Amino acid sequence: MTYSKKNIFNKLSITKNQAWLLILNAKSIYKANGLKRKTITIKKNNYSFVYDFTKKKIIRKNFSSDDAIQELFDIFLPIILNNNKEPYVIGHLAQSLDGFIATNSGESKYISCKQNIEHIHRIRAISDVILVGAKTILYDNPMLTTRLVKGNNPMRLVLDPRDKIRDNKNIFKNPDKNSFKIIGMNKKNKNEKSFRLPTLKNNFKANNLLKLFKKLNKRIIFIEGGGYTISNFYESNLLNRFHLCLSPILIGQGKNSFLIKGKRFMRDFKNHKINYYEMGKDILCDIDLTT
Ligand SMILES: NC(=O)c1ccc[n+]([C@@H]2O[C@H](COP(=O)([O-])OP(=O)(O)OC[C@H]3O[C@@H](n4cnc5c(N)ncnc54)[C@H](OP(=O)(O)O)[C@@H]3O)[C@@H](O)[C@H]2O)c1
Repeated sequence: MTYSKKNIFNKLSITKNQAWLLILNAKSIYKANGLKRKTITIKKNNYSFVYDFTKKKIIRKNFSSDDAIQELFDIFLPIILNNNKEPYVIGHLAQSLDGFIATNSGESKYISCKQNIEHIHRIRAISDVILVGAKTILYDNPMLTTRLVKGNNPMRLVLDPRDKIRDNKNIFKNPDKNSFKIIGMNKKNKNEKSFRLPTLKNNFKANNLLKLFKKLNKRIIFIEGGGYTISNFYESNLLNRFHLCLSPILIGQGKNSFLIKGKRFMRDFKNHKINYYEMGKDILCDIDLTT
């Protein structure tokens, strides 16, 4: 495909579904190897675009897209087309205006709107692993599938150092049998559905988790919560990107989105650069933590 003047003035139109298939195709063909490259061309059916790795955006395309479709490309391509040698880790949390991801009793359905739930399913579909903490399984009992959008279900992992999550949870009911626990090395579980890692005071080091993802050949890791699990990666400087969905509610008290130990002075905290997107009644803050 050449990008002549004729193409610019005579562009194809694309629907949201076709744009999503193009994005999924980027996921299936791109193999990051840490080598510097300037651009990549992605094609699906009659549609194609050129993505610039430095600008982290599309620089040429043979179709015209409205704002909603352009947002899909802007949000998902920098995740898929990252050039990390190490697994790329993205976290998402939906929180109230006053910073809570759940009530004190652990209830978090439905803090965010249906557009955000669909967004979460899209992140699942472009990921190789969905990772959650044990408490998210205990309180929410999620299935962690991509049922609202096109795309494969990735592997699902639960951090369960004390081996307390039972096999009857929804996450283990998927016929693909691609859900596993990560339990402490000291646990005597012979279940083949578990990986075992060393713990210190019942905690896995984020670095050891990253090594496991690498060993499993997983490139995009989606941490879907809760706050404890995401904070651990953030504090270890291993969170590459964070999607914070702000919902227009005030809860007053509940479970915190971020739990950061140690730092006590404003000068110790970093200002992050954010892109904002309207998402139904909510606002999505897209934070690239690598810049
Ligand atoms: N609004 C949202 O976007 C959202 C998303 C997900 C969940 N939630 C809500 O958030 C609440 C749960 O969040 P949370 O922050 O309390 O807990 P969480 O992150 O879901 O789970 C924390 C637990 O996971 C295990 N764990 C996590 N990281 C670990 C590590 N590095 N090493 C060892 N173990 C690790 C530990 O299990 P042990 O306790 O066994 O040591 C830890 O107590 C629930 O109420 C859920 O409904 C909200």
